[in-house]
Amino acid sequence: MTTRTLVSGMMFAAIVFGQEGIPVTDPLVIAKCGTCHARDEHGNMQRISWERTTPEGWQDALKRMILVNGVSLTPSEARSIVKYLSTSHGLAPEEAKPVMYDVERRIHEETNLPSENVRNACTKCHSFARALSWRRSLEDWKQFADLHAMRFHLPPNGEAVAFLAKAAALHTPEWDAWSAHTRAPNLTGRWLLTASIPGRGKYYGEMRVQPVDSTQGDDEFNTSVLMTPVNDGSGILRAGRSVVYGTNAWRGRSKGGEPAGSAPDDVNSEAREVLWIAPDQSTAEGRWFWGQYQEFGFDVKMRRASSDPTLLLVDRSSLKTGSEANRVRLIGDRIPARVTPADFDFGPGVTVRRIVSSTSREVIAEVDVASDARLGKRDIALLGSVAPGAIAIYDRVDYIKVVPDSALAAFGDQTHVRGYQQFEAIGYQRGADGKPHTADDVELGPLDPLGAISAVSWSMEVFYATPGSSSDFVGKVSPTGFFTPAVDSPKNNFDVWVIATAKTAKGANSKPLVGKSYLVVTVPSYTFNGHRYVRDLDRWVDDGPAQ
Ligand code: HEC
Ligand code: HEC
Repeated sequence: MTTRTLVSGMMFAAIVFGQEGIPVTDPLVIAKCGTCHARDEHGNMQRISWERTTPEGWQDALKRMILVNGVSLTPSEARSIVKYLSTSHGLAPEEAKPVMYDVERRIHEETNLPSENVRNACTKCHSFARALSWRRSLEDWKQFADLHAMRFHLPPNGEAVAFLAKAAALHTPEWDAWSAHTRAPNLTGRWLLTASIPGRGKYYGEMRVQPVDSTQGDDEFNTSVLMTPVNDGSGILRAGRSVVYGTNAWRGRSKGGEPAGSAPDDVNSEAREVLWIAPDQSTAEGRWFWGQYQEFGFDVKMRRASSDPTLLLVDRSSLKTGSEANRVRLIGDRIPARVTPADFDFGPGVTVRRIVSSTSREVIAEVDVASDARLGKRDIALLGSVAPGAIAIYDRVDYIKVVPDSALAAFGDQTHVRGYQQFEAIGYQRGADGKPHTADDVELGPLDPLGAISAVSWSMEVFYATPGSSSDFVGKVSPTGFFTPAVDSPKNNFDVWVIATAKTAKGANSKPLVGKSYLVVTVPSYTFNGHRYVRDLDRWVDDGPAQ
């Protein structure tokens, strides 16, 4: 245990550090930060050596040092410091993965909180993942919490600090293992990609990843990807730049070759790319998003291309028992010429009757499903390549769920673009226990591709609207489940049910299946404790070299 005293007139009163710190060795960090954050004989720098976080976390810390403490950094110094700190004081991939939804800007119901007290205290202004994205010593969590409480007029919350000191400790077995050996990201080459956009369906493609300038290090890349929608429409060519922080955090930006049109969800829009790279660097997954509230995005999965045949995806998510001659499109890479039905394995009860056509990228197969085929998700295999859980076998749709099941949209004003929301109706089957709404239920995919196009109709119901009044003053939901808020903000927040009603699928009571989502449409910013917050606490990693 060491005691430190006030340095350079800064606010560091005697601080007791009870844990071994992570020494700082980067000359730039020492030069730029060392004037206030004193460095001891072990190379530990005050505060910095007792903290680890994501690239976004370090970027936030630097922004604050610049804004509040008058630190001056050029953009390239800032990027270099974020790179160093998110590598040497970063998160192990296993630590980063559970909080990825925060930087991926996903709607996510958080179940990682210790109590309602902490939920109420810590999730009003940001997700709890914001806190869990940091790892600190107990002493550092205490110091952080004191300052945070002071800045935002919060009551002290010992429970949150005690929880974080355990759940988000500085030293963890994952970090010890990960930091023991340094790796350089080596992502150059050809990657196969699958993606989906809510309301639009699946995409597949191929990405080329090339180092920007190999003399400058191998953590910055140029990318180009051709993404083809499975359903219809033409491919999108996207070009981008990305930086890989700490070998596992891909942060980039890309845009389509065509100028984005006026539709807010245009797939050519410029998007931020956030991917989690697996420790073996053979796969990556994440979200590429855009929109004022990052409400639009591709869910992306990538894997390194190999010289072997690869099955990437199937055009549909489910097949019905007792159905015959279903035309299934199987998309892949390096599929051998003249594949035969015997090269495929759909599991027992599902027979490939014949191959209708095939190229090296896709096969159309005609498939029969026995009436007693086992229900549930199953893998599909093509030669040695397996698409896990690619298809669900179902006998009927037992219920539908609207996703996201709770959501936010926002009215606009002079300075804020409106926030939209795309909904989807997902079919479910009751699962092996025969009971709907239990853990073993099987997801069948969006209802539309199951049957005819537009298998559901959409409507909305506004809470607290005067009876009989139209919901138009809040907004409209389109026939494809796309919610657009009204142009003129009614200067109030509104709670709305967004309702999907199946056109043909009926429930046990022979009424059409219905699903609902709880949507809150808000004014663009709100106040809390006298402070004005824009709901989107925008923070972003400097995500690429100047073009
Ligand atoms: C001019 C003095 C000064 C310089 C230079 C400085 N800092 Fe700080 N830093 C502070 C002070 C004061 C605090 C404590 C108050 C606060 O958190 O804002 C602090 C706190 C921090 C914290 C803890 C924040 C938290 O969330 O608990 C981090 C991390 C940090 N600094 C990183 C850096 C880095 C990295 C640099 C170099 C790029 C740097 N600082 C340069 C003054 C400075
Ligand atoms: C009144 C709003 C508000 C509440 C309540 C709140 N925070 Fe924050 N918090 C913020 C803001 C704003 C930021 C963004 C960073 C900034 O501006 O420095 C932030 C950032 C953070 C960070 C990132 C670290 C950093 O230095 O920026 C952590 C960790 C955090 N909060 C933890 C908590 C915990 C734990 C609680 C509950 C005890 C809590 N917050 C409650 C507003 C709040």
